[in-house]
Amino acid sequence: MEISRGLWSSRLGFVLAAAGSAIGLGNIWRFPYSVGTGGGGAYVFVYLICVVAISVPVLFAELAIGRATERNPVGAFKALVPGRLWRLVGGLGVLTGFGILAFYSVIAGWTVGYLWMALTRRLDEAVDAASSGAIFGGLIGDAGPALLLTAIFLAVTALVVRGGVSKGIERATSVLMPALFVLLLVLVVRSVTLPGAHEGLAFLFRPDFSALTPTVVMSALGQALFSLSLGMGTMITYGSYFPKDQSLPAAGATVAGFDTVIALLAGLLIFPALFAAGVQPNHGPGLVFVVLPTIFAQMPLGGLFAVLFYLLLGIAALTSTISLLEVVVAYFVDERGWRRGPAAVGIAAACFLLAAPSALSQGAVPSLGNVFGMDFLTLQNAIFGNYALSIGALMICVFVGWKWGIRPALNSIEEGGGRLLGRRALAFLVRYVCPVAIAIVLGFIIITSVITGEPPF
Ligand code: PHE
Repeated sequence: MEISRGLWSSRLGFVLAAAGSAIGLGNIWRFPYSVGTGGGGAYVFVYLICVVAISVPVLFAELAIGRATERNPVGAFKALVPGRLWRLVGGLGVLTGFGILAFYSVIAGWTVGYLWMALTRRLDEAVDAASSGAIFGGLIGDAGPALLLTAIFLAVTALVVRGGVSKGIERATSVLMPALFVLLLVLVVRSVTLPGAHEGLAFLFRPDFSALTPTVVMSALGQALFSLSLGMGTMITYGSYFPKDQSLPAAGATVAGFDTVIALLAGLLIFPALFAAGVQPNHGPGLVFVVLPTIFAQMPLGGLFAVLFYLLLGIAALTSTISLLEVVVAYFVDERGWRRGPAAVGIAAACFLLAAPSALSQGAVPSLGNVFGMDFLTLQNAIFGNYALSIGALMICVFVGWKWGIRPALNSIEEGGGRLLGRRALAFLVRYVCPVAIAIVLGFIIITSVITGEPPF
């Protein structure tokens, strides 16, 4: 059993794989459009506070659980305490992984479609908002390509996960992550050297606190969890493959640092380019698919930068879908005795069935465009990508802070050497700040939705 689980071959291997999980569409697609609609610098400021006060403690809580038990989320809770309740929290995590994977691979598929259109110069036709919108609508609203691209993405993900922890995931991420970093730097340099770029920088870094509303705060919290892959046991699973004799504290902190830096770099890539082109930043989810192509189409060498950008987005998405599938696979391998290969392929195939209605909800099948007042993809994003993660993160903090215990958790993090800075602060954050803050946010969403009668998404 132990042998079939696998381990990272080195600390760097873990850092790259975990950073690969964290860095994804969340950083390069969702973060910029949330900054854009959330009013810029003030959103960034709240986001950074959430990362430090909530995400980092949850990250270490998850890593501790994984490392102490060397199990998938369900097995991990089972190994630490008896009783059904906590096992259900693990089960919710596995289910959430499956659910996120389903809608995430649809959007990831679009990045492949865009890469293709950039390579074949079809994107050059996106000269204004109308033509770019038509290209986007054409891609996502056509059943054939939408399904095919999703299937391709899931298949590639399954292929990597099938290879195992060190030979599949670690090997892929150790090539993909440096590539991502280089691509991102090239694009940032291009963007910040455009004439008029400074306005974008000001938007990103000069907070205007009058823009802050409770909804903005909520979205920043959700984003801080989503972006670091927290609340569903990804870091429990990845922590479970961390060699016992290696030091974890700095490795964990590096993952959080990388993720944050990459999100900020994505901001530095997108906002200077937007402002330089005189485009408003509040475009919502269409930002990188509808607005950016119009900018590339007018920029010198824009065709090349478009290729690099969608390649970057695709790579970032792949290292995240790998981790989503891995959580589910780890459960079936550890708890159900499945073999890794068939588990990876079978689960990806099953996930395609849940992904299909999302892929078809963007115009191909009109009835899927209106489920509880929104399209099926947005609904899945809200349920799995916001609610389930927040509930999961809340339960994980309660578990570590009040049930299992802070002390064994901290000990498990320090097991292979290395000191965790700010142990007491971390304990306080896990026990009090995180659960209370997350509960307030969740409570707020529910109450507002009851009062306004709108769905709580
Ligand atoms: N963190 C990933 C991103 O930012 C998404 C993700 C969420 C991956 C939860 C795994 C688990 O894109």
